[in-house]
Amino acid sequence: MGPLIDRRALLATGAALGMAPALPALAADQDARVRALLAQMTLDEKIGQTHQPAGGRQKALNSKIDATALDLVRKGGVGSYLHVAGAAFLRELQRTAVEESRLKIPLLFAIDVVHGFRTLYPVPLAMAATFDPEIVRATARMAAVETAVSGLHWTFAPMVDIARDPRWGRIVEGAGEDPYLGGVMAAAQVRGFQGEGPSSKGLAAKDSILACAKHFGAYGAAAGGRDYDSAELSDRTLNEVYLPPFHAAAKAGAGTMMTAFNDLNGAPTTANTALVRGVLKTQWTWPGLVVSDWNAILELINHGIAENPVQAAALALKAGIDMDMASGVYAAHLKTAISQDPSLSPLLDQAVTRILTAKMRLGLFDDPYRFGDVEREKTVFVGPEHRAIAREAARKAVVLLKNDGGLLPIAPSARKIAVIGALATDNLSQLGSWKARGQVADVAPLLPALKAIAPTGTEIVHVAGAGPRSDDETGIPAAVEAAKVADLVLLMVGEDFDHSGESRSRSDLSLPGAQSALARAVLAVGKPVVVLLPSGRPLVAPEVLERAPAVLATWFLGVEAGPALADILFGKAAPGGRLPVGFPRATGQSPTYYAHVPTGRPADPDLAKDTVRYHDVDIGPLFPFGHGLSYASFAYSDLALDRDNVAPSGAVKVSLTIANTGSVAADEVVQLYVRDPVASVARPVKELRGFVRVTLKPGERRRVTFTLAAAQLAIWSPEGWRVEAGKVEVMVGSSSADIRLRGAFTIAAPGKAREPATAIPTPVSVA
Ligand code: NOJ
Repeated sequence: MGPLIDRRALLATGAALGMAPALPALAADQDARVRALLAQMTLDEKIGQTHQPAGGRQKALNSKIDATALDLVRKGGVGSYLHVAGAAFLRELQRTAVEESRLKIPLLFAIDVVHGFRTLYPVPLAMAATFDPEIVRATARMAAVETAVSGLHWTFAPMVDIARDPRWGRIVEGAGEDPYLGGVMAAAQVRGFQGEGPSSKGLAAKDSILACAKHFGAYGAAAGGRDYDSAELSDRTLNEVYLPPFHAAAKAGAGTMMTAFNDLNGAPTTANTALVRGVLKTQWTWPGLVVSDWNAILELINHGIAENPVQAAALALKAGIDMDMASGVYAAHLKTAISQDPSLSPLLDQAVTRILTAKMRLGLFDDPYRFGDVEREKTVFVGPEHRAIAREAARKAVVLLKNDGGLLPIAPSARKIAVIGALATDNLSQLGSWKARGQVADVAPLLPALKAIAPTGTEIVHVAGAGPRSDDETGIPAAVEAAKVADLVLLMVGEDFDHSGESRSRSDLSLPGAQSALARAVLAVGKPVVVLLPSGRPLVAPEVLERAPAVLATWFLGVEAGPALADILFGKAAPGGRLPVGFPRATGQSPTYYAHVPTGRPADPDLAKDTVRYHDVDIGPLFPFGHGLSYASFAYSDLALDRDNVAPSGAVKVSLTIANTGSVAADEVVQLYVRDPVASVARPVKELRGFVRVTLKPGERRRVTFTLAAAQLAIWSPEGWRVEAGKVEVMVGSSSADIRLRGAFTIAAPGKAREPATAIPTPVSVA
């Protein structure tokens, strides 16, 4: 028999593009067990392993596990179920597989745990706004514990798709527009879910679950931000922007990946051999399990590249899709496909090997029940420890977009506060779009939290006024009356949870429903107004973003939304989140991103000049990538580079001093950007290559040092990652548009790098 994992001998170029996989190989005895098992399997049993039916619907987990389903399990016809949950239920289902099927192969149980299982925490875009990989890791770890306790082994997360078009509803599920930030957040989540660390047992450790980086490889580039639509990308953009977060996830040890629904330059990903088998499995030598997206194998017919399901099955298997999520095409048609083309047979063996290997890595062959724990289910969900993590995450995710006149934190002189907007009491929305087992009753709401924290005697009233789901303006006069008698207005307008997410693309990024009218009427009263802006994407709302003095981007914050917001509003915590994606000035500016290339005619404010801009809107985003204010102020000084010249394989230490010049303790996100000003191809005007979130007391100063490798400037080329000789500009600042310090060094000679520049994390120390 040939090699079980199709790690073909690497071509010279493959080695240049590849890397050592962080997912450890199986121990020799485990590998032998997998081989021995495979040798015993019938064709039907092998195909059974590739079959992942839905065990229920998203809102009715387990509902499809009936007598017929159990019979199929007994026949070895199922490898995995998705949309199932519950320690007791899954124990029984697993028992059927390991006691009543011929080969006793355990099932893999999967579910979408995207931002929490029962203890929901902020949506992924908000988690990216924390710019804090440690809290991201901690929340994923907490989610893994709850998921594992409920008997599940595998989450379909992290979603690591780069999203540069806010019209795309799924922007809420990822880390935004930047591949470096995306890679760091991807790796942090993988480590959290899988529990890997130097001293842990990795995937076989208690409470570890398999992570699934999705949706490989350019789902986020859907044309026009329309979900599922084609991605039309240059190879350079694919390799430099869209693939690096997957590479980072692979390097962090992600056990599985899911392919995208859409096509890339006309090749549907589910059948894209060059991308999945070629890049992911061969060049990157990543040894994990690839699952299709929901029904995507059957949809190859709609894509117009397969005439029938038999062809679709053959194409997907050739491409390297190991497991068929929900379409049933492998189960029903792979046998025919193999009888027509026996060369598919070793490919099936490879797919089954990857599936059995994943089960082996989790330790399921030794203890198929090791995950579920009925007793812990009762205590661990939404326990105080988990609430504390969710609250810290929620506080850290809030972004202060503006704060004219220092309106925030709320002054004690605000004795009467009017909370206006239907969203202020929409607790369901705080759960976000992927709720898993989240319950609205677990959400700590805003109004009681405000009342609990406000100085005694503060009067807090709520008037809905208008909401995002209706054009009804009849409630607006009451809101205006409340504003008139208030000292301060908290106006909560934005999206609800269902405006973003899968298939929730919007052609217009303005405030939905009658909220614009509400905002205009309330602002016209002339009282101080703080806007709370919940959303799963950047919004275009000039009526509040330009007119209100203070605005907080509040996303959907999970079960601790109310207390976290109250903490920020009353200054118990200072906001320190940063935008992981810029807010455009107009929907028609999309897609727009800070890391664009310069063009021959850079944008100029002078409309008499013909430059790269729109005539009817100012240049650039309203709030740029990396933007976020604080209740404190920070001074940057003393930039130093430890060398002027660096070898292509070397690194430069970039140091600076950051000081809190304000009067409260607060967090600053120090951001490192680079630019290659003269290269063989146009390079972005600025690219993030490092960041750190530091907490500083008033007057406190710290020395921050980034270690930037020359390889992090590498440019993609079909021959491999190329490091070009020449000058590199270094910029350090508080956002992509607020650069405080500049320096430069020279890469002394050309060289080669081994992996995507944006997938290399920059070590940073704070002294
Ligand atoms: C389709 C979505 O695209 C994917 O992200 C998700 O994991 C699956 N459905 C399973 O729910």
